[in-house]
Amino acid sequence: MALVGLVLLSTRYYMVDLPVWRSFGGGKGPDPTTLHLQGEFVESNLGTAEGPAGSLTVRMIAQQFVFVPQCIVVPMGVPITFRITSADVVHMLSFLGTNSGIKAVPGSVTEGTFTFAKEGEFKIPCHEFCGAGHHAMRGQLNVVPGDHFASLLPGERRTCELR
Ligand code: CUA
Repeated sequence: MALVGLVLLSTRYYMVDLPVWRSFGGGKGPDPTTLHLQGEFVESNLGTAEGPAGSLTVRMIAQQFVFVPQCIVVPMGVPITFRITSADVVHMLSFLGTNSGIKAVPGSVTEGTFTFAKEGEFKIPCHEFCGAGHHAMRGQLNVVPGDHFASLLPGERRTCELR
């Protein structure tokens, strides 16, 4: 019985800690219900984009049970800033084959900067229980050489081919 209680706690805690996350964000984070319609996370702004001074930012939405976009392409060996949020519950984007991960929380933006040293295709499964489709929730990160990335058009940088 105690074990069952523990399992419930560990998988349902987002219901408890959401208000806590929200209060940390001061309620200024993006509204999960209008992510696709306005602000930073509209569809045309998702994926990998070059900012001022050549900085690279990846914007993604996690939602039951996909990442949007499902596949992202980044250059190898340079810092990439991820900004992610969730359209529903808490998800965890983890980079398989690396030690890195980042949490997606509804109502706030989580930022993390990572540098990928190895070229290749990495699965990015969700590592936070988020519902019935959790185990099938996975995207893909394609790390390519810098000169290859530089040759891609802006539209080709935003998303990539799933293989
Ligand atoms: Cu999303 Cu588990």
